[in-house]
Amino acid sequence: MTEQELKKLLRSMSLEEKVGQMVQVTGGFLEEGAVITGPAADAGLELSDCRLAGSILGIAGAERLRKIQERYMEQHPHHIPLLMMADVIHGYQTVFPIPLALGASFHPELVKKAMEMAAGEASSAGLHVTFSPMTDLVRDPRWGRVLESFGESPWLDARMAEAYVRGYQGDDGDLSRPGRLAACDKHFVGYGAPVAGREYNHAELSEHTLREFHLPAKIAAIRAGTACVMPAFQSLNGVPCTASQKIVRELLRKELGFEGVTISDWSAVGELVAQGAAEDTREAAKLAIEAGVDIDMMSVCYARELKGLVESGEVEERLVDEAVWRILTLKNKLGLFEDPFHGAGPEQEKRTVLCEKHRDLARALVAESAILLKNENEILPLSPEKKTAFIGPYVDSTDTCGSWAIFQNREDTVTLRRGVMEGGWGAHASFCHGCDVLENTRVLGFGVEEVFGESEDREERIREALQAAKEADGVVMALGEHTLQSGEAASRGDITIPHHQMELLRQVAAVNPNVVTVVYSGRPLDLREVSACSKAVLAVFLPGTMGGAGIADVLFGKTSPGGRVSMSFPWSAAQIPVYHNDYSTGRPYDPAGAEQKFVSRYLDMPNEPLYPFGYGLTYGRFQYSPVRLSADRMKAGGSLKAAVTVKNVGSAAAKEAVQLYLYDEKATTVRPRRELKGVKCLYLQPGEEAEAVFEITEELLKIWDRNMEFLAEPGKFMIFIGGDSRTDNGAEFLYEG
Ligand code: BGC
Repeated sequence: MTEQELKKLLRSMSLEEKVGQMVQVTGGFLEEGAVITGPAADAGLELSDCRLAGSILGIAGAERLRKIQERYMEQHPHHIPLLMMADVIHGYQTVFPIPLALGASFHPELVKKAMEMAAGEASSAGLHVTFSPMTDLVRDPRWGRVLESFGESPWLDARMAEAYVRGYQGDDGDLSRPGRLAACDKHFVGYGAPVAGREYNHAELSEHTLREFHLPAKIAAIRAGTACVMPAFQSLNGVPCTASQKIVRELLRKELGFEGVTISDWSAVGELVAQGAAEDTREAAKLAIEAGVDIDMMSVCYARELKGLVESGEVEERLVDEAVWRILTLKNKLGLFEDPFHGAGPEQEKRTVLCEKHRDLARALVAESAILLKNENEILPLSPEKKTAFIGPYVDSTDTCGSWAIFQNREDTVTLRRGVMEGGWGAHASFCHGCDVLENTRVLGFGVEEVFGESEDREERIREALQAAKEADGVVMALGEHTLQSGEAASRGDITIPHHQMELLRQVAAVNPNVVTVVYSGRPLDLREVSACSKAVLAVFLPGTMGGAGIADVLFGKTSPGGRVSMSFPWSAAQIPVYHNDYSTGRPYDPAGAEQKFVSRYLDMPNEPLYPFGYGLTYGRFQYSPVRLSADRMKAGGSLKAAVTVKNVGSAAAKEAVQLYLYDEKATTVRPRRELKGVKCLYLQPGEEAEAVFEITEELLKIWDRNMEFLAEPGKFMIFIGGDSRTDNGAEFLYEG
């Protein structure tokens, strides 16, 4: 449709129709014979609120969505197509490792490819928009949604944000092409910093922290062209984002220039009442539209109140028109007025979903993102000639995709046992569970309470596990959190592996010390004891559809583990928040120095996390040359090159994530001791060497200065290039300004 035609359409719409475009409900409501139950009923929605809703969420499938679209368009006064949205967070039916793991791959190019595939699958199944990426920077692993984040580095988060958006939307951003999905960057802003890591809690961020740490990935997503942005549920510095003109209208739209659609988080407009920001749903609707929220997801506020608010003159119709214009523009960009199905269809779906190419990349990404945290005596990789007992509740589990993989079919997931057997490594392997993931616990799942009891044959299973451990040369323990223990509404105070699994690990380690522990989790756990009980530890997070295959590849050395810590693994939960890019203090602590008192330290535990940012072992061994700078001075607007030569002096081919860190030695605001500013992934054969060259531009040096201006301050800078955030391989240069 031309812009003129679109404008004409907008002018011809009734107020009721326009308000309809600003309402989003779950897809089931628009199906034939729909009844309203569950959380939707709790929100007070009725079918009459949904009749003209301009978008739906949460369901997929080409046939199903086609039927809904046809039925809806037929009865719609202007036959305007619906937008179909859903949470496709790390894959549709081919589920890639969780975003936190993808962050750990340190490999945005591969992540972009994965998201292209996710878009291909989801759009073939009728979806138009995904509520992804989540670009919230995280520092508190107690928060369950860290699984959806890329980690604690603004630079890495920003690269991943771009990879996601460009993967979904294509480099040219042409959404009309089949196989493309519109992105929705979320949550704007500060949701990743809930106080005490407790879900939905308010966030307190100084302007400086917000801009230095939490905004860069959001800005990257906007610059990459994200079609939508979702304001966050929670309050930031005392004001709910959904009702904040300062955050949505001023910061997001005016300052950052975002012109796309904003959509509230689930029932967030209605929740303004519970937050005490609005008296009732009417005031909530007024606050949200004035703040700049275009679509109200799953609350009654816009559907019931907007029309009246406009008719009474309390809300200017102009605000409605602006929002509807943005929504219609998105529909038009997707080409829905020409093809309301956006190329989706059962044939296309069958060809695309779970195809070999997608499964292959999902498998490769398991190895790319698995972090080898410990490998004493090079116990890994395993030899298939030796007897290995695979023990633990994750040996046969298909529940390894995480709580956001809402379109997966569990039967498509490759278990660890299957991965080992199909890889041809199982001749001398034995398998048993030892225990379940959870015991004597109740966890609320999506609307249902899941009760995990104690199995009747508990003792027998433990005996079997110990026997298997005794008979084997080595043991692989497959342990971890339950999927329901991470994700939304899954904050934990005790971030360890469930205690009965730890007990099993202790007992196994007592009869066979050659333990390799594979840790499944949605967050960096406190792994201190796991590490003490194990010769090797491999963190695989929630590895997705091809999890078992990819993990077996790593365990038996078909691939070298490529993951690097993108969110610090704390030594103890008591250190939280602990992260690599914290500020210098006037009383720094030197753990290698003599005993010191009046310094910034804990008396009873280290300052450093157990596994720091950037860290991860491989099957290779890498030697770095000193850093070479192309110049030791840089002028305003200039740049210089920093390079190292990296050699694999080990005996196996491996990936090295070469990392560039920056330290601004003197500035008007205190600076982090290390900030990641670049990564190059090298894949080197034994004996092979390669150069990693980074361009240091003035842009990289910019900070928010004392007057809250974003600029590069003249002075000395240190560049460090190495294999993790502790590297001291550095060189200094002067930025002259
Ligand atoms: C989450 C969002 C998500 C939305 C729709 C909310 O509970 O916070 O991230 O996109 O639900 O499923």
